[in-house]
Amino acid sequence: MKKGEKIFFAVSIVLTVLAVTSVIERKMRKGETPSSKDYYEWSAEAEKGYVLYKKSGCNSCHRALRTGEIGVAPVFDGEGTRRTEAWLQGYFNDPEKLVSGSAHTGKFGPDFRLLSATDKALFIVFLKGLKSNPGSSNYPTPPFKLDE
Ligand code: HEC
Repeated sequence: MKKGEKIFFAVSIVLTVLAVTSVIERKMRKGETPSSKDYYEWSAEAEKGYVLYKKSGCNSCHRALRTGEIGVAPVFDGEGTRRTEAWLQGYFNDPEKLVSGSAHTGKFGPDFRLLSATDKALFIVFLKGLKSNPGSSNYPTPPFKLDE
């Protein structure tokens, strides 16, 4: 073998060993699957809620699952981790009580007080399914302000 061939041969062996050990190492770490930052818990009801959400044009102000507007209204990815079901129920029943001057009293966005109980429940199931993990920018931030 020429010198160049020997070097090439040695480098390929080293790379092969590295590739094999990294595959083995990954297999040994099973059970610890890397968690994605934002995810959703899907169900037949949540899917109905999503269809209703799309049909109602909520995406024209909100954003979820990579579609919709940014900058007009809160992004919904992670909503089901940031908000409790009780908060969402309270908000759909009377938005003004939880957010003073809320858009959802017909001023700007759709008036939630006009929605049927079935539609509210579907929206809530869909929103509760939009979850986030620590590390996501949609994960809840601490409820205090830092001194400046
Ligand atoms: C014209 C714009 C607009 C549209 C359309 C709209 N929203 Fe909103 N929404 C807002 C704004 C602005 C807020 C910010 C909070 C507020 O004003 O109460 C908001 C807040 C919310 C919140 C509370 C989020 C939080 O955690 O603070 C929910 C839930 C919500 N909207 C659901 C919906 C649903 C469901 C639809 C479709 C039926 C919809 N929105 C359509 C503008 C809109």
